[in-house]
Amino acid sequence: MADKLLEVQNLRTQFFTRGGVVKAVEDVSFYLDESETLGVVGESGCGKSVTALSVMRLIDRPGKIVGGRILFRGEDVLEMDEEELYELRGGKIAMIFQDPTTSLNPVFTVGNQISEAIKVHLKLDDRAARNRTIEMMERVRIPDARRRYTQYPHEFSGGMRQRVMIAMALSCNPQLLVADEPTTALDVTIQAQVLDLMKALSEEFKTATMLITHDLGVVAGMAQRIVVMYAGRVIEEAPTRALFATPAHPYTQALLSAVPRSSVPRGTRLTAIPGQPPNLVNLPAGCSFAPRCPKVQPRCRVERPELETVGPNQRAACFYPY
Ligand SMILES: Nc1ncnc2c1ncn2[C@@H]1O[C@H](COP(=O)(O)OP(=O)(O)O)[C@@H](O)[C@H]1O
Ligand SMILES: [Mg+2]
Repeated sequence: MADKLLEVQNLRTQFFTRGGVVKAVEDVSFYLDESETLGVVGESGCGKSVTALSVMRLIDRPGKIVGGRILFRGEDVLEMDEEELYELRGGKIAMIFQDPTTSLNPVFTVGNQISEAIKVHLKLDDRAARNRTIEMMERVRIPDARRRYTQYPHEFSGGMRQRVMIAMALSCNPQLLVADEPTTALDVTIQAQVLDLMKALSEEFKTATMLITHDLGVVAGMAQRIVVMYAGRVIEEAPTRALFATPAHPYTQALLSAVPRSSVPRGTRLTAIPGQPPNLVNLPAGCSFAPRCPKVQPRCRVERPELETVGPNQRAACFYPY
């Protein structure tokens, strides 16, 4: 059997704070195949970003990956030395963050920043890197790329800056793109344009994408499969079609209940559920969703449900699915 592109097994990441140990990611497992787009969905604070940063080995103190395995093409990322990690980040795996302003250096021109990344990872000389940069700026449809090469980040709009980030991310032919809320900071119309562009480019470049969002509308049109997280754990995993047609977990159902099933408009926010996610320092016994669950039973408050198969390629962590 061929290796998966990315395989995360029983990942656990914690933050050791004065207030106690924050169990940000608990026993999270998922995989990505080559060229596939996986959606990772859940409310703010459920561990999406920490999962992404763990995959890139970018967790710093007081955080620590305390358990699990992360295999990229069968190689254990948790065992890699600095040199191997350098090759991994930006070369094999590229990342786009929510806020493009913080990822670009204000004192260098946009062209220079893309060029530098290309020089380092593709080992090209100045001239070749410049040409490749302009080509990439054109491919992410930045108008007048040759002129804009010498402009600074502040001369670009939010949407154009995110295009710059996408150009930079894809310029080194990564096998995996990790996009953490890539369009959350953008206006709805610009969001749609950037998503369409990401979709077209990931198909063209055959890049697999881990698309993290709290916006169900975003993943509906982009992802083949979806992982739903709650309180640091995966609570449901399903092909996109099945997740929208027959959500098994009450949390997923709640996320979808405010949304018309047939057409999920982009911009649909996951805010319709009463109550708050639990404190990740003091998790309740049993199912973390039990305190908010409309279908809760006594068993749910004492015993934690494991992810179980509930349909074709669909798994949910619930004693009373559907
Ligand atoms: N540096 C940190 N120190 C302490 N707690 C953190 C830190 N970074 C993240 N966390 C906690 O980890 C949990 C998951 O955060 P995160 O992955 O950012 O959520 P999201 O799903 O919104 O991306 C949250 O409870 C957050 O407060
Ligand atoms: Mg986040």
